[in-house]
Amino acid sequence: MSEKRTQPADITSAALASFAGSGDARLRELAQSLTRHLHAFAAEVGLTQDEWEAGIRVLTDTGHITDERRQEFILWSDALGLSMLVDALANPLPDGATESTVLGPFYVPGAPLRAYGENLAEEPAGAPAWVHGRVLDLDGTGIAGAELDVWQNGDNRLYAVQDPEAPEAHLRGRFRTRPDGSYAFLAVRPVPYTIPSDGPVGAMLDATGRHPWRPAHIHMIVRAPGYRTVATHVFDAASDYLDSDAVFAVKPSLLRDFVPRAAEDPERPDGVAGEWFSVENDIVLVPGADERPVADPGRTA
Ligand code: BEZ
Ligand code: FE
Repeated sequence: MSEKRTQPADITSAALASFAGSGDARLRELAQSLTRHLHAFAAEVGLTQDEWEAGIRVLTDTGHITDERRQEFILWSDALGLSMLVDALANPLPDGATESTVLGPFYVPGAPLRAYGENLAEEPAGAPAWVHGRVLDLDGTGIAGAELDVWQNGDNRLYAVQDPEAPEAHLRGRFRTRPDGSYAFLAVRPVPYTIPSDGPVGAMLDATGRHPWRPAHIHMIVRAPGYRTVATHVFDAASDYLDSDAVFAVKPSLLRDFVPRAAEDPERPDGVAGEWFSVENDIVLVPGADERPVADPGRTA
């Protein structure tokens, strides 16, 4: 009598069972679920040996291109929508609160503290945009002393950290709200740009007919004692790519109009000549104990 032949499902069962003795219940759940989904994926598509090898090559190349300045693993997570999904699952926010979105690789902690209304740009970088609003509690009360940590690209499409020619503080700054919760700073109108596409993630975008563009946006992390920190964007509501962001980070509630203003407009901010834009953007924070520090993501220069 011949022995029963080993079936694919027997291999999955054995791999799942291997974690049964893990004393850490959460680790067991993660390891078993990951194994179950990986095996289901391979079985569903009938993964070939060549495809498995190609996958290993992609992971190896991702490791090789990743260092302290470039984090291609997070870029994979971004480009597959995983970063946005994890944020949505792990940090749900109630209605009325400013929605969070992806942090991205170009955040560098330690931006200079700047005064109300100060210019983010250390050198000419595009059309001036006066960004203003209030940081509010869910009940509409202004939050004094909240910090807005802001970074953005210029009209050359680059963040300062990507541009060896740019001063370190260029298009970066931290601002504190006034006693009524108001803030303002002089930015430039951001422009669409491509996520780093010269590595394995770019090859995937190419091979699958996807584009690498992100719609124009300004990043901000807003923190205040006694409130939950939010990492978010101000999207230009007139930008291209709002409906096909390479990292799935657009949320309709974050779109803002960049309103054209004339050179002779009496509200023209100091230091602005010619046409400019104004952008109104209130931020609503949720009370909470965690002033969650946002870690340096490992930038992609
Ligand atoms: C960004 O907005 O800076 C960004 C986010 C995800 C991937 C690449 C760039
Ligand atoms: Fe960005």
